[in-house]
Amino acid sequence: MSNLVILGAQWGDEGKGKIVDLLSEDADVVVRYQGGHNAGHTVKVGDVQTILHLIPSGILHPGKMCIIGQGVVVDPKALLDEIAYLEEKGIQVAGQLLVSERANLIMPYHRAIDKSNESHRGEKKIGTTGRGIGPCYADKMSRIGIRLCDLLETELFAERLADNLQNFNYILSKLYNLPELKFNDIFNEYQEYGRQLQQYVADTSLYLADALAAGKNVLYEGAQGTMLDVDNGTYPYVTSSSCCVGGSLTGSGVGIRGVDNALGIMKAYTTRVGEGPFPTELLESTGEFLRKEGNEYGATTGRPRRCGWFDAVVGRYAVRTNSLTGVCITKLDVLDKLPVIKICTGYRVGDELLHEFPASLTKLRKVEPVYEEMPGWQCSTVGTQSEADLPAAARTYLARLEELLQCPITIVSTGPKRDQTYIKTKMI
Ligand code: GDP
Ligand code: IMO
Ligand code: MG
Repeated sequence: MSNLVILGAQWGDEGKGKIVDLLSEDADVVVRYQGGHNAGHTVKVGDVQTILHLIPSGILHPGKMCIIGQGVVVDPKALLDEIAYLEEKGIQVAGQLLVSERANLIMPYHRAIDKSNESHRGEKKIGTTGRGIGPCYADKMSRIGIRLCDLLETELFAERLADNLQNFNYILSKLYNLPELKFNDIFNEYQEYGRQLQQYVADTSLYLADALAAGKNVLYEGAQGTMLDVDNGTYPYVTSSSCCVGGSLTGSGVGIRGVDNALGIMKAYTTRVGEGPFPTELLESTGEFLRKEGNEYGATTGRPRRCGWFDAVVGRYAVRTNSLTGVCITKLDVLDKLPVIKICTGYRVGDELLHEFPASLTKLRKVEPVYEEMPGWQCSTVGTQSEADLPAAARTYLARLEELLQCPITIVSTGPKRDQTYIKTKMI
């Protein structure tokens, strides 16, 4: 038995979906533990591409139970749309999906507040996905959130919705000059969602406890990434949830015995979408090359992703804050044509040399990456499935990353498809 957390070790979009799909073959249960439909996880099997936002990437494997845990914020319309999208593709969801009764719901006022907050921030915006994620988590922490189990109790739902609307309509109309939201519209719309989702709602913490006790393999799927984590990330340019390994426990409702290993997913370079510090960002032609070669456009919003060199300071930080037991390097093939590849090993701020990621935004604005240069391999690694088949320069690059990260590289991804992968150790 082995239970594995798979999480992003940079700023999201590292290729978590591909690796979760791949390793789901050896799992019995796959759990999403945080975030919401701000995530976009792309899975490619043969020539068929599937983009998942809320449902775990294990859903493409028949017979695996997929769980949306209590740490996830659920937009019921987005979830129902995703179920319909999968079923249209012939992927069975009924009987293979459970949603935690404790999961908080994204309400229409969360979306409205998210968008208004962003537009009022102007230059200082975070660059959120506009899906209502932050305001929903804020309500959860303020203890005024509405959970899936609350939606299923009509009177309680009506009471909580009325209380919240009183508050949010005041903010929307007085602060943002927006029309007030109508109780009846939301009440009726959400009652219908509740009716359609009822079959999936369960005590998923209990389900997981039973699965773990029976010796089943559980795979925990993180969304976003370590540097977007609300505690560990580049605050305030983060998402509002706990993407790191700690979130896998609270977000699934399991204790410390529920996890054995943590696999951090890192691209062979770095990307970020939205605003905020990004020390190795390349604003010139190499950045554009990475965006083109890596097809770096957001799966959720379509925004171009900011691109830069691999940052070993970030990587080491992710290894430490998650106690990673393995690293998966994705998109190695994107570097195939480059004559020279750089790795950031530290930051310079004036006369000071930093080896740890600073918390201070002022410092982060001033950091200059210190680079090490390595020769590129300039031949195709697409689809390579073994270390021996990799060009020598690619092996040297990976060995240097491993040395800098101080964590074993257990998987290398060489293309978007399931089988375009070199697996050293499966970890589940
Ligand atoms: P996630 O949010 O971490 O699941 O990552 P995304 O799905 O948002 O972004 C990763 C993108 O890279 C997707 O389009 C994947 O199909 C693609 N991808 C994943 N691994 C590889 C790889 O090794 N090589 C290439 N070229 N593309 C990959
Ligand atoms: P996956 O799971 C990359 C970013 C947004 C913004 C910040 C806050 O596909 O890796 P939010 O809407 O969450 O309040 O936005 O977080 N962001 C992501 N960036 N990948 C994601 O998910 C992201 N989810 C949110 O761009 O900068
Ligand atoms: Mg993504």
